[in-house]
Amino acid sequence: MARPIPVDIFDCVVFGATGDLTLRKLLPALYYRFRDGQIPDASRIIGIARSALSDIDFRARASAALEQHVAPSDLDQNLVGRFLTCLSYVALDVTAADADWPSLERKLDPARVRIFYLATSPELYGPVCKALGSAGLNTGRSRVVLEKPIGHDLQSAREIISEVAAVFTEAQTFRIDHFLGKETVQNLMALRFANTIFERVWTTDVIDHVQITVSETVGLEGRAGYYDRAGALRDMVQNHLLQLLCLIAMEPPVSLEADRVRDEKLKVLRALRPIAPHEVTALTVRGQYAQGAIDGRPVPGYQADLGRDTPSGTETFVALKAEVMTWRWANVPFYLRTGKRLPRKVSEIVIQFRAQPFSIFPAEAADWQPNRLVIRLQPEEGMRLDMMTKDPGSGGLHLSCTGLDIRFDTAFGTRFPDAYERLLMDTVRGDATLFMRHDEVEAAWHWVEPILEAWAARPEAPRPYPAGSWGPTASIALIERDGRSWHEEMG
Ligand code: BG6
Repeated sequence: MARPIPVDIFDCVVFGATGDLTLRKLLPALYYRFRDGQIPDASRIIGIARSALSDIDFRARASAALEQHVAPSDLDQNLVGRFLTCLSYVALDVTAADADWPSLERKLDPARVRIFYLATSPELYGPVCKALGSAGLNTGRSRVVLEKPIGHDLQSAREIISEVAAVFTEAQTFRIDHFLGKETVQNLMALRFANTIFERVWTTDVIDHVQITVSETVGLEGRAGYYDRAGALRDMVQNHLLQLLCLIAMEPPVSLEADRVRDEKLKVLRALRPIAPHEVTALTVRGQYAQGAIDGRPVPGYQADLGRDTPSGTETFVALKAEVMTWRWANVPFYLRTGKRLPRKVSEIVIQFRAQPFSIFPAEAADWQPNRLVIRLQPEEGMRLDMMTKDPGSGGLHLSCTGLDIRFDTAFGTRFPDAYERLLMDTVRGDATLFMRHDEVEAAWHWVEPILEAWAARPEAPRPYPAGSWGPTASIALIERDGRSWHEEMG
């Protein structure tokens, strides 16, 4: 594998430095890039949070986080020591009128690339950006990185977007959808635009439908407050699943330049057929996990996880049918589903090709399966093209379905960097290709919002499903009504 090219020396200011995202994802990602020689030693990572911590305290927390979230074989104590010296801490209440911004400024070098990473709740994006602007900290080489969710609905997303835009230009603003940083998600572009064979068949004439499944075994993971306000449609579909749909459905961009790629994704979002209120029941399913078992272990239901007596109407599972209204995709439904406490953690895209129009083979020669391309984003990253082939032997003509299989781990024999490693380095390089532009965020909310409104207007609760199942049976009915079925062979 090519050695990563070092990025410029930078100052990275992380707001929310004691939070879960920083400790679980950002610091390990920065450590890996440091370990591989991509981050110069002179770079600085400055944690910001309200707690009164010293640099030493913050480094101790960072060190514990690395122990917990970096593979032991990748932890070199000498490197960890060098990495920790890049870290320092400033205690700052960003909402306070008398917040001590000068003490942050003293730590920053005006000549360097400067990253402001907002690993905070979205309500703080506007106020923090405003304060950064007033404190004169937005230099020409500054970038601001915002985590999803950008808002709670279209209106709040627009407010955040304009508050941030009052201080940072669009070119300085990096909105993260971490799915776009996953190796296999980036590989979707390679699959489609570096190979001629797929592009020719990527059309309604040949493709019957597309399935996108992002299933998780985890439940709330200490995020009950956020999750119960958000639910699966806001947390996963509005961003991750729609971004995957865009990468599958977009037209070839004229170049890999950030705006050319984002122009094409935006066209897809705008071509999504709006789901009218009277169609929401037929085209969407929402569920909530009840008590069950995963891998033989008993798992409590969502209400018990919330630890609250009053019932919650938040969905932890969504399945829906989307349509992209273009010549390429007319009559090719996209079935999307995602949920918590499902039997396996799997992210998978299935391109189901149409059945052969006519067969020269006798019906008894095979259990016919139309071709199918299964793209496994995680785990066991790879892809498989299911094809009919003749069974070897002289016992007559019998055909069966065989997979043309690539497993990326065995093909490349290398560790797959975490999405945040790539995305953090892209922010330093100033490459926004894998980040969401403001109009993409708005278009995604625009499509999702009528579904949220229709659900809110309906009194019935999400359908319960036992933890460890593939969601409510209505999700199976959603696709079976169209004579199709979910690809369940995820073992
Ligand atoms: C996050 C969601 O964006 O993505 C979480 O907020 C979800 O609810 C997570 O668990 C899934 O990401 P990954 O990388 O574990 O597939």
